[in-house]
Amino acid sequence: MFALRRNSIVTIQRIFPIAAAVRYGSSTTATGAYGTHNTPVASNETLSREDNKLLDQVIRVDHAGELGANRIYKGQHFILRVTNPRVAPTIQHMWDQEKYHLSIFNKYCTEHNVRPTVLRPLWDVAGFALGVGSALLGTRAAMACTEAVETVIGDHYNNQIRETAHLEDKHPEFSKLREKLAELRDDELGHLNAAVDDWEAQKAPAHGLFTNAIKLGCKTAIWLCKRF
Ligand SMILES: [Fe+2]
Ligand SMILES: [Fe+2]
Repeated sequence: MFALRRNSIVTIQRIFPIAAAVRYGSSTTATGAYGTHNTPVASNETLSREDNKLLDQVIRVDHAGELGANRIYKGQHFILRVTNPRVAPTIQHMWDQEKYHLSIFNKYCTEHNVRPTVLRPLWDVAGFALGVGSALLGTRAAMACTEAVETVIGDHYNNQIRETAHLEDKHPEFSKLREKLAELRDDELGHLNAAVDDWEAQKAPAHGLFTNAIKLGCKTAIWLCKRF
């Protein structure tokens, strides 16, 4: 009976590195998503219910956000490669970075057994429609869309980095996760800067109204993904 339980825990540790090692209070080595860590677990504390919920929420929301971002850039590229081929490589570059971001959260979802949002089909359609719609309004409008989205997402990643600060010492995997959040935030802010500095996002028609509407939509999407 003991052997069976021990084997089960080892299996869980392989599949869910942070969750298993911390939730089961391991003090041995842990094999993580981004390599093998020979550092002992910093603490034998198990995660509280609130911390577990926070971890699931961070991964679920970010997975959904990166999925939406991929769809937006796909929609923009679909239009702008025809209407303004000069900007297409920039959009492609941003889209490629979003593909990388999504691959990270696909991995986290699998490794930590996090259920993706049930609203995924909605973000698929809404993201692509926003990308196509903004690009049809012109390059500046497409870039104003990027400015709005990346402003909200940059703030969102900063909030998550702050909210997970207390997890830092609980396991080395949490440091890795928070480093990833910072890396992705920097990419998103790079998109924001490119849109504003290089592609005149703020000269888009009805810029204030347009960006505020998109920011509100993004904040609503984050709120929904935290819950569903
Ligand atoms: Fe992203
Ligand atoms: Fe982005």
